[in-house]
Amino acid sequence: MTTDTSLAEICTVKREDIPETVTEEYSDAERDELKSRIKQLLKEQNAVMVAHYYTDPDLQLIADATVGYVSDSLDMARFGSESEADTLVVCGVKFMGETAKILNPEKRILMPDLNADCSLDIGCPIDAFSEFCDQHPDRTVVVYANTSAAVKARSDWVVTSGSALDIINHLQAKGQKFIWAPDKYLGDYIQKQTGADMLLWQGACIVHEEFKGIELAELKKQHPDAKVLVHPESPASVIELADVVSSTTGIIKAAKELDAKEFIVATDKGIFHKMQEAAPDKIFIEAPTSGKGATCISCGHCPWMAMNSLRKVVECLETGSGEIHIDPELGKRARVPIQRLLDFAKVHNQQVLMSSDA
Ligand code: 13P
Ligand code: SF4
Repeated sequence: MTTDTSLAEICTVKREDIPETVTEEYSDAERDELKSRIKQLLKEQNAVMVAHYYTDPDLQLIADATVGYVSDSLDMARFGSESEADTLVVCGVKFMGETAKILNPEKRILMPDLNADCSLDIGCPIDAFSEFCDQHPDRTVVVYANTSAAVKARSDWVVTSGSALDIINHLQAKGQKFIWAPDKYLGDYIQKQTGADMLLWQGACIVHEEFKGIELAELKKQHPDAKVLVHPESPASVIELADVVSSTTGIIKAAKELDAKEFIVATDKGIFHKMQEAAPDKIFIEAPTSGKGATCISCGHCPWMAMNSLRKVVECLETGSGEIHIDPELGKRARVPIQRLLDFAKVHNQQVLMSSDA
């Protein structure tokens, strides 16, 4: 595990482990029936839906129409721990459900599909990561929320894209050096912004990694007045062209607040639903994901996020399938660095990571 080659191998998700993006199609009548069944089940079970911006717009609409919540991964965690519901239905990917369970061990946490994973989580297996940490005992271990409970339990701090910059700045001011995992692009961005001494794990998000700087520069020429909004899981060549680099919440906020009509958006296209809702008169254009003749793997939409569907929400509420279980001892250890994140966010009134000078 100690060579760069073997680290790259561990971090790379194999093509065959990336599922096809499948979107369930419904007639209007089926959709209405599924939605009213979900509403009824949520009420009966004192349950709420917490959905990520990348999930199907139907799920976001129903979370908003009930007493649920739609947001980024930081706010999903925050909302879940403040909610009085007995059951949280987490529409997103596995690490989001696990974070909800770690913060709320007494609640029942259901996910529409337990196979909804994340390439960053898959590319950071606990044994290899723990060995890496053991080799650098003098460094503070900072991990992105997109990791397993075991990796979180091995860390000192958990951060999200909406909090990473401020937390690293805060810890660096105390003279700390870091191990950063798993996202190499986000790590590189934070390193450049803060000048911190960071050893980077070499994971990547298969969605953001596909955005291409050269093609984005071409697209910008065709839309010279468009502002470019980029999630920091994207490669440096894409970040360099950004007007705003931010978490998903920050991207939506920028779309609403910036004085521009057109936006080129380098993040999962699931976010367009909320962007359009926040700024109905504006035009949003997908950032390019592949060059001429190339084929994209995710094509701008996370195949794991796409596993969440109305039908599967009904199924998990009706049968109790998709329940998240975490070993209580592991959960207690993983909670410490997550709680640090939430406490930090509270004290610093943390909302979004936003930079206009990337
Ligand atoms: P956010 O924290 O910005 O919602 O990002 C989560 C994620 O998985 C992005 O790919
Ligand atoms: Fe993971 Fe990328 Fe999907 Fe987010 S979009 S859940 S980082 S694979």
